Amino acid sequence: MNNSVDKLNTKIFNVIKSENLLGQQEIFNECAELILKGGLVASPTETVYGLCANALNPKSVKNTYRAKGRPSDNPLIVHIDSYDMLNMVTKAIPENAKKLMDKFWPGPLTIILPKTKIIPYETTANLETVAVRFPSNSIILNLISTCKVPLSAPSANTSTRPSPTKASHVFQDLNGKIDAIIDGGTCDFGVESTVIDFSTNTPTILRPGFITYEMIKEVLPKVDINNFNDSTLNKVDINSTKNIPKSPGTKYKHYAPNCTIFVVNANTIKEIAYNINKLAYEDVLNSKHQIGILATSETFHNYDTNKFFVINLGSRQNLTEISKNLFDSFRLMEKNNITKVFAEHLGEKNEASAIMNRLNKASGYKILNFKITK
Ligand code: TXA
Ligand code: MG
Repeated sequence: MNNSVDKLNTKIFNVIKSENLLGQQEIFNECAELILKGGLVASPTETVYGLCANALNPKSVKNTYRAKGRPSDNPLIVHIDSYDMLNMVTKAIPENAKKLMDKFWPGPLTIILPKTKIIPYETTANLETVAVRFPSNSIILNLISTCKVPLSAPSANTSTRPSPTKASHVFQDLNGKIDAIIDGGTCDFGVESTVIDFSTNTPTILRPGFITYEMIKEVLPKVDINNFNDSTLNKVDINSTKNIPKSPGTKYKHYAPNCTIFVVNANTIKEIAYNINKLAYEDVLNSKHQIGILATSETFHNYDTNKFFVINLGSRQNLTEISKNLFDSFRLMEKNNITKVFAEHLGEKNEASAIMNRLNKASGYKILNFKITK
C-alpha cells in the first residue's frame, strides 16, 4: 500500500432529496464521472452515508479500503437500482430471498447471495458470495442510475469510528481522502441495513437493522440469528463484581468514539436513571472524568444538566428518532471532551435490537446490569 497518497480536494455538493432530482442532474453527472474514473463519492442512503465506488472495478474497491483504513478481509455491500442490475451481480436467487425482496426492497435490507463473475474478488474479500442492497434513498438511487454500474458502498466513516449519519461526519473522517461528498441531509434510520445470509441452509441474520427479525419471521418459515445479541460476552454483572474489566479485545472495537461507554440496564426505566445518577455522581466526586449521559425523553428530567453532558436521544416510543441520533451523539460526546458515557439500555426486541447491537459494540460490551432476577 502506498502511504504517501496525495491529499485530494474533496468537493461538497448540496442536494435536496426529492422524488424528482432532474434539476440537480449536473451534480450527479459530475459525481458519476468521478466514480467511473475510479474515484470515491460519499452519498446519503436511508440508513447511513455510504462511500460509493464502482463495484466492478478492483482498483476503485482498493481505493475504498485505503480511504477507510478498512481491513481488506471485510467484504463490501453492492448497491443496485433495479432487478436487471440484481441479475448482473448474482445468480440462483432462492424463492425465500425473492419473498424478502418483494416485501422489503427498496429498503434497508442486504441479502447475501452467490456472486457472478462480473463482481471482482476485491469487492467480496475473496468470497463466492456478494452482499446486495437495493436502497430506497432517491439520491443514491439516482447516483447508481447515472453511473449505470452497481456501486460498492461501505459506511463512509474511518474504520472503527461511528458510522456517518450526516455529511459533516463524513467530512470529519474522510476530508482529503475521497473525491466528493453529496450532502443530502440526515439519514432516515441512522443505523446500517439488516444483513441476511442465504448461503447457509437456513437464512441467517448476520446484522440486525430496521428490517427486524420479527418482520422477517413473518415472511420466512425459518430464520436463524447470528449471535449478535449475545450480550453475555464480556457482560459485567454489578451484583457479582465491582471490578469493571479493562478494554475488551479489539475484536469488539466498532462504532467507537474516543470515550468509554457503559450501558446501564435495570428492571425499570426509573431504576436505570437512578443507577446512572449514582454512578455518575460517584465518578464526579472520585475522578477527573467528564461525564456524559445518553438519556431518552422519558428520563431526561432525571439528570442534572449542570453537572453532566446529557443528550436526549428521543422518545422510547419512537425508536427511529433514537437511532437517527445515536451515532451523532457519540461524536457530540467527543466534541465536548466527555471521557465517560453512561447510556440507557433501550430494550431487546424489534428495532431496539438493532440500536442495542450498535450501542453494545460501541461500549465494548461494558454492560452494567442492575436487573434483579426474581
Ligand atoms: O446500511 C448499510 O448497509 C450501509 C449503507 C452505506 O448501505 N453500508 C454498510 O456497509 O453498512 P459496511 O461495509 O459498513 O458493512 C457491511 C457489512 C459488513 O459487516 C460485512 O462484513 C458484511 O456486510 N458483508 C458484506 N459482504 C458480505 C458477504 N459476502 N458475506 C458476509 N458478510 C458480508
Ligand atoms: Mg461500516
